[in-house]
Amino acid sequence: MSKKIKIGIIGGSGLDNPDILKNSKIKTAPQTPFGKPSDDLTVGEIEGIECVLLARHGRKHNVMPGNVNYRANIWTLKEEGCTHIVAATATGSLQEHIKPGDIVILDNFIDRTQGRKQTFYDGEAKHPQGICHLPMEPAFHEKTRQMIIQTAQQLNIAVHKTGTVVTIEGPRFSSKAESNMFRQWGGHVINMTSVPEVVLAKEAGICYAAIALATDYDCWKENKEEHVTVADVLATFKKNCTKVTALITAVVPKIAKENWDQSCKELQDLVKNSVMT
Ligand code: ADE
Repeated sequence: MSKKIKIGIIGGSGLDNPDILKNSKIKTAPQTPFGKPSDDLTVGEIEGIECVLLARHGRKHNVMPGNVNYRANIWTLKEEGCTHIVAATATGSLQEHIKPGDIVILDNFIDRTQGRKQTFYDGEAKHPQGICHLPMEPAFHEKTRQMIIQTAQQLNIAVHKTGTVVTIEGPRFSSKAESNMFRQWGGHVINMTSVPEVVLAKEAGICYAAIALATDYDCWKENKEEHVTVADVLATFKKNCTKVTALITAVVPKIAKENWDQSCKELQDLVKNSVMT
């Protein structure tokens, strides 16, 4: 018998609609060795597959990116039995060809966060023992990414198949000089949350992929009209979130049809071999 699949869905700003789950109920946010997750969980099903929905910034959007308890969020989803996480994130575009409204299936990151806790193995009592030096290539889970790309093709939803996200500390947006530097570095999109979420999911042995919705052109363009504002971000994802929701809803049963035993074992072994005790 292959391992039971359960999918965690982390919704970002405006991308955390609980209606995507059937037979849903609220489960009180559990205490973890790292504190409490961003909010209560919504547990339910998509086509009979068990899913757990977590609003990254809280359901009232009251947790700013730097204050999200990423460790508690990922720990909770692991404790819930999630084998996979499909995360949604609003991003700014750093490239002309990635237009507001486009979807990017992330495959790499550049970390510009500051002081965020990036590991469960921090040497503290009651936390996992040892020190973990986890390889970050590939950063996002490749087979899960490919399933999302295939599903998008079947639904006729255009996606960029790869993309490097620059994750900044925020909560402010970037300066124009920073934005241009990130472009030179090879960043495709920019947000405030993919790191350390992707890192911790890998450390937890969870297959993690992210659907990034471009909502704006950040501020690198000469044309001031195209410089990011919160209003633009909100308007663009309101217009496009049904696309993201459709993609998540369709990919869940496809993921559940596959056998992930080998993938889970590989991740588990990688983590085990990365911990020094
Ligand atoms: N999220 C959406 N747009 C963004 C931007 N331009 N910079 C950082 N995070 C974002």
